[in-house]
Amino acid sequence: MELRKVIMERRSIRKFTPQAVDRALLESLLKQALWAPSGMNRQPWKFVVFQGASLRRLLDFSAGIAETIDEALKAQQFNEKMRNFVKGYFKDLGGASTAVAAFGQQMEDKREEVANLYSAAAMFYNFLLLAYEAGLATCWMTGYLNKEAEFKKMLDIGNYALVGLTPVGYPDQTPPVPPRKHEDILWLN
Ligand SMILES: Cc1cc2nc3c(=O)[nH]c(=O)nc-3n(C[C@H](O)[C@H](O)[C@H](O)COP(=O)(O)O)c2cc1C
Repeated sequence: MELRKVIMERRSIRKFTPQAVDRALLESLLKQALWAPSGMNRQPWKFVVFQGASLRRLLDFSAGIAETIDEALKAQQFNEKMRNFVKGYFKDLGGASTAVAAFGQQMEDKREEVANLYSAAAMFYNFLLLAYEAGLATCWMTGYLNKEAEFKKMLDIGNYALVGLTPVGYPDQTPPVPPRKHEDILWLN
């Protein structure tokens, strides 16, 4: 598929069919995503894959987040229907059979750490695009930052900061295309 098409047609999907994601396919997509650029070529990242029992543990953890985010959602002016949807989505991740989290390595030097987080985000976005090209669906989520310390503890991941978590599966919805603001380019002549 043409890259431009992949970039423009990928959508955040929040409802998945029960179809499992083939492990070999997932592994090949993750390895391709690792071709992202990285600051000083540190390759300062980690993917964590949740399937089976680990996915069930993740969903238990997510259910706890759902209980704590209502105030944040109210602050974003979400109405009650939207708030209930978001909370429900945290409880079951839309029924996806797999989830993938991406982390960037933390550093003593905070400028290096920021570069690591950018690098891990590039890698994660590579994965979202590659997954879409392969017929899979994803949704970059940072809601887990609400309980990042507990999340990291559960995974025993040490000095890595969460960049995003996405359910991965086959799409069971065709959401509307959120329009883009086209005024965001500042030309300096
Ligand atoms: C850094 C980041 C964090 C996001 N966090 C969440 C999240 O916690 N929950 C969620 O449902 N969607 C989340 N999204 C998805 C956005 O809502 C979505 O990308 C945006 O509405 C545009 O829609 P599209 O991805 O279909 O083009 C996040 C996206 C990004 C890039």
